Amino acid sequence: MPKVVILGQKELDVRPGTNLLKLIQEQRYDDQLPATCGGQGQCSTCAVRVLKGGGDPNQNEKDVLGEEQLAKGWRLSCQITITQDIEVEVPGYEVAEAIQIEPGLVRDVLAYAAEKIPLRELPSTQKITVKRLKDLSSRTESLLEGGGDPNDFEVLYAVFSYIGRDHKAREIPTQFELTDEKIQKILEAFAKRLPAEEEEIITYPYFLYVAFALLFFLTAGLGIYSVLRDAPLEEPATPSFTPNPEKAPWYFVGIQELLAISPNIGPFTSVAIGGVIVPTLFILFLIALPYIEPYLEFWRKDKSKPPGRRLRDRPVTTALFTLMVGAAVVLIIIGQYFRGPQWEWVIPWK
Ligand code: FES
Repeated sequence: MPKVVILGQKELDVRPGTNLLKLIQEQRYDDQLPATCGGQGQCSTCAVRVLKGGGDPNQNEKDVLGEEQLAKGWRLSCQITITQDIEVEVPGYEVAEAIQIEPGLVRDVLAYAAEKIPLRELPSTQKITVKRLKDLSSRTESLLEGGGDPNDFEVLYAVFSYIGRDHKAREIPTQFELTDEKIQKILEAFAKRLPAEEEEIITYPYFLYVAFALLFFLTAGLGIYSVLRDAPLEEPATPSFTPNPEKAPWYFVGIQELLAISPNIGPFTSVAIGGVIVPTLFILFLIALPYIEPYLEFWRKDKSKPPGRRLRDRPVTTALFTLMVGAAVVLIIIGQYFRGPQWEWVIPWK
């Protein structure tokens, strides 16, 4: 069976014919080696450096990577079928400088964390579970020697930050020295291995191709449809006849309804309130939402990091936004179906 060496991380015997990208993805946690084009050999996000083996690059690799990158050993992992021994270096898996900490100490801290720390409260973009801590514990030596995924260090950083607070280190049963100063040094070492803040996403040319192709087909489709079907227009307006009620198009009928139910307050007429002030406040609120979000999610303990991307990480913001969109939809439905002559209430099915 061919042997695959992921530099600084793993050595595996795999079945001949295994796809290298799939293999690497299976070996990683949440943050998989990205494959933007879905393994078509067109995007280069799955590139790895092949130090040994791998066969000859195919045409896709030549087109996407070019000679210079190929000469440096870069290959598209999605295009490599493993048939012989291969040694690769995966971005994020690079061997970094060794960290001088006793592996036993890290294991003791992880064991304590698995038992005593409320893991959901740890500020991290990673999913931290007991299983994951145990896995890290089993790989401590290789992590400290310079292997490991930056995401692994995000977990370690979160755990050590937690025990560094409120002198929790004293509670940890360990034979190794564990002072607050030492925790600070460990955190500094881990911080160097955290994931890069910004990730570069290549949009040109592949994403743009897709976007323009969609734009083209959409425009062509609408053009053909509008030639084949007549627009649903009413008969020409006559000055002697004003329809009652005269409703705005559906996307504005919500504002028309808002206008109708708004009261006059002081110098502001219902028209000013429903037609200008409330819609303006609504739009300003949406613009400001990303900036005021940290204050809305007041329940979060660690406000130094932005909340996660999942809905459950942003319940207040999500609820507020849903409420506002829901209110807009209700206004549109009322204005469209439940208003009749003089803008009085009607039952649409009667
Ligand atoms: S996944 Fe896009 S090139 Fe491999």
